[in-house]
Amino acid sequence: MLNLLILQSDLQRSRILEASLANKVDKWNMHFLVDAESAWHRLQTSSIDVMIADFAVANENTLVEKVRESFPDIIRIGLVDQSWPARSGLSNFHQFLITPFAVKELEVAVERSCRLRDLLRGEAMSHTVGAIGQLPSAPTVYMKLIERLNRPDTSVDDIAEIVEGDVAISAKLLQLVNSAIFRTSREIATVGLAASYLGITSIKNLVLSTEVFSFFENKPGMARFSINELQTHSQLTAKIVGELDLSKETRETAIVAALLHDIGKLVLAWKMPERLSRLMAKANEQNCPLYQIEEDLWGITHAEVGAYLLGLWGLPISITEAVAYHHSPEKVPHHRFDALGAVYVANLLAHENEGTPTNFRATWDHDFLEEMGVAKNLPIWRQCANGIRT
Ligand SMILES: [Fe+2]
Ligand SMILES: [Fe+2]
Repeated sequence: MLNLLILQSDLQRSRILEASLANKVDKWNMHFLVDAESAWHRLQTSSIDVMIADFAVANENTLVEKVRESFPDIIRIGLVDQSWPARSGLSNFHQFLITPFAVKELEVAVERSCRLRDLLRGEAMSHTVGAIGQLPSAPTVYMKLIERLNRPDTSVDDIAEIVEGDVAISAKLLQLVNSAIFRTSREIATVGLAASYLGITSIKNLVLSTEVFSFFENKPGMARFSINELQTHSQLTAKIVGELDLSKETRETAIVAALLHDIGKLVLAWKMPERLSRLMAKANEQNCPLYQIEEDLWGITHAEVGAYLLGLWGLPISITEAVAYHHSPEKVPHHRFDALGAVYVANLLAHENEGTPTNFRATWDHDFLEEMGVAKNLPIWRQCANGIRT
C-alpha cells in the first residue's frame, strides 16, 4: 500500500481529485489536505511515500523545502498550471504535472517514480554501489547553477555569468546548442541567448551533460575505454531524438537523457575497468548487447548505475528514469510515448546507424512500440537516423 499526501489549496479541486481517484483506494492510502500547516503535521505523524502538492502552496510556505530536508525519501510531485511563470524552487520537486491533468497521468507518474525509487534502492543496486565505492560528486559548474537556481531572484544573466565563468564548458555548450540536435533557425552566439531560447533548466542540464564527459576524461583507469566513442554515440542518440515527433518539453528532457544515457559505462570504466572490459569482451564474443551480459552475470546494468548517479546529483525523475530503463522501457507503465520511449528508440537507431557489431536489431520490442502507437513510424525514423552524419 502506497501512502500519498495530496495538497491542493482549492477545496473544490481537492474533492474532484479525491472522487476521481476513488478506484485507487485498494492500492493507495490517500490523505487529501488543503493547507500547508496540516500537511506538515501529517508528514510528521504518518509515513508518506509521495507528496503531490500545488507548486505555489508548497513553495510559499517553504513546505517542500522542509520535506526535502527532513524527509528526503518522499517523492515530491508539483502541480503547476499552464501559464506557470515560476523559476525558483524548481529543484525542490522531483517532477511536475501540468493542470488540468488526466487521472491516468497522475497514476503513471506516481507508480513510475515509486518503481524507480525501489529499483535504485533495491538490494542488487546497494550491493553494486557498495562494490563501486565512492561515487563522484556532481561537476562544479552544474553545482553552482543548482545553488543559484534555488534562490528566488535568479535571472538568465546570472545563469549566463556562471556558465561563462568556465570558458571550456561555455564553448562546448554553445557548440551543442548550435548543433543539429536543436535545429535552431539562427546561430546562438551567447550563453545568455541559449538560456533565453531553451530555458534555464535545460541549460543547467545541458551543462551537466557537457561537463560530465570532461570530468571522466582525466580519471585514471579510463585508458581502455574510448570516451570519445561514447560521446559520439551519445550525441548521435540525442540528434535522433531531435528528429522524433515530440512536444518541446519532452524533446528537451529526452535530449539531455540521450546525452547522458550511457553515463553508467563511464562510472564502471573508471571504478571497475577490469570487470567492464571482461563483460564487453564477452558481449562481443557472443554478439549480444552489453546490457544483456551485465544483466545475466551481474543482475544490474550500466543503465541503472548511471541512473543511480544522476539521482544522487538531483536530476529530475524524467531524466533519471529514461536513463534507468533505456534498454527496457516496457518495465514501467506508460500513458504515452515520452522521453523514455524516445531515448529507447534513438539508442537502438544510433546502434544501427553506427553498425555496432552486436545484434541490436534483434532486441527491438515491437509490442512496446505498438502499444505506444508508434510502430508505424519506425521505417521513417530509421531512414532519418541513417541520414544523420556524426
Ligand atoms: Fe546503454
Ligand atoms: Fe547507448
